[in-house]
Amino acid sequence: MGEGEQAAREQTLMDEVVASFGGAESERYREVMQSLVRYLHGFAREVRLTQAEWDTAIAFLTRVGHITDERRHEFILLSDVLGLSMLTVGINAPAAGSANAAATESTVFGPFFVEGAPEIPLGGDLAQGAKGMPCYVSGKVRAVDGTPLAGVRVDAWQADEDGCYDTQYQDHRTQGRGWQRTGGDGEYRFWSVLPTAYPIPHDGPVGELLTAAGREPMRPAHLHFKVAAPGFRPLITHVFVDGDPYLRRDAVFGVKDSLVGRFTEHTGGTAPDGSPRQGRWASVHFDLVLARKDGS
Ligand code: BEZ
Ligand code: FE
Repeated sequence: MGEGEQAAREQTLMDEVVASFGGAESERYREVMQSLVRYLHGFAREVRLTQAEWDTAIAFLTRVGHITDERRHEFILLSDVLGLSMLTVGINAPAAGSANAAATESTVFGPFFVEGAPEIPLGGDLAQGAKGMPCYVSGKVRAVDGTPLAGVRVDAWQADEDGCYDTQYQDHRTQGRGWQRTGGDGEYRFWSVLPTAYPIPHDGPVGELLTAAGREPMRPAHLHFKVAAPGFRPLITHVFVDGDPYLRRDAVFGVKDSLVGRFTEHTGGTAPDGSPRQGRWASVHFDLVLARKDGS
């Protein structure tokens, strides 16, 4: 078969598959699937995908499926290390120049959020025994026009000093996670521990992918937030610890300069909540600014 004939066959096959989605009831489903088929076929044609490579890819995706359960989210990890999670976050960010552009930027959700975390009173202890230097975390939740937002649910979760989330221990502990409602002036505040850099789970297929690429699994130290208020876009973000060496080489491409917070380390003295402190502790103040749903 000549090259021209081969190319024509490949084109015909692609056109046929694209057309097979033409009768979809949902216009959006049709648009997404037809585009996906065009890109998948284009990719396979561009790299001249071999049968052995495709078998390897199927075996890889099968392993991703097999290792996935409620605690291990390998598909999220795969999307994260491919930059697809951050691309989707960026595509859905408020338009530059819109009233909402001043909102706190979003970043990856990650695989470690769990439903059912405990409520932590304002000023309470989110660490619940997690290892690490005590860290006082506070800030305000407000709208882009500065209006403080009271009674808003703020979820936070983080890894301990050893770089592990509670769900990575086998004893079903709950540490380093919780939620609270903002006070009358939009304020949130809790004690936790100073986050440290950690590797994303890399003992599975996504780890193999990173190793084959000579990539590190590390994420810079951060604390996760999820904020939801009626009439506002949900915010999923982190505050990163300034000075972390991995800020410029995050395995999941999640760092944005605006999300790097100033974590200050102290010895003894009095904490912002008036409590006397002994030994080393840290503090950070980070406002969470929400975009209105009706702004663009
Ligand atoms: C995280 O920050 O928890 C995370 C994000 C992406 C992949 C793995 C972990
Ligand atoms: Fe994290």
